[in-house]
Amino acid sequence: MDVAWLPGEKNPHPGEWDVFVVDVLRASTTVITALSNGAREIMPAASIAEARRSAGNQKKDAVLLCGERAGFRIRGFDLGNSPSDYSKERVLGKSLVFASTNGSVMLKKAAGKGGRVFVAGFVNMDAVVQAISSRDKDTRIACSGREGGFSLEDAVCAGMIVDRVRNMGVDPECWDGALSALLLYRHFASDLAGMARNSFHGKYLASIGMDKDIPDCTAVSRYNIVPEMRKGRITAKQP
Ligand code: MLT
Repeated sequence: MDVAWLPGEKNPHPGEWDVFVVDVLRASTTVITALSNGAREIMPAASIAEARRSAGNQKKDAVLLCGERAGFRIRGFDLGNSPSDYSKERVLGKSLVFASTNGSVMLKKAAGKGGRVFVAGFVNMDAVVQAISSRDKDTRIACSGREGGFSLEDAVCAGMIVDRVRNMGVDPECWDGALSALLLYRHFASDLAGMARNSFHGKYLASIGMDKDIPDCTAVSRYNIVPEMRKGRITAKQP
């Protein structure tokens, strides 16, 4: 088991690894929330233009254009990147095309590497831990970070996954990235919302009036699904 702390990190280990993509603030939380509330599927896009093109190929009343730039809903898009925007009323049965600054890009990158790609966050912690524990596969938790750099909340979430998998009695071989994330998680375990609030992106969200999203992004195990991306589409999967 390993944790990639930075989005550009290459996997130094041979073979095909399961990848769990984390973007706590807020893309992976939003994807998990939307699918838990009944969205049919989510198609991540690497750019706004790609998102518009992809939505243009779908039936108009069945698709929602979603995503953010600088944290704000993109002009002309239906939804932004606040998990609370993705209520049952808005997303049930819909296909979502989703373009965020870091998270959707990371998902697309992870999908090109051969292994299976899943979506993780605090909000589906138990389901992710169960999925990892029951699969006899090497697991890599990939932190989406922020514009190529490190994000505290992603590494802490990755560390929590490592901690809980080890507590399940499964004893995966843990590489340095995983061991370091585990220590970081233990440091912040008693106040995940406070940790997220004090992170760089947490402070940025507060500065644009979106810190209301922090409790939604740090609600541990609120949902019981493990989304998986296949052929460019993310769908919900029970553990
Ligand atoms: C991203 O993908 O960069 C984020 O989820 C940014 C955000 O909207 O908070």
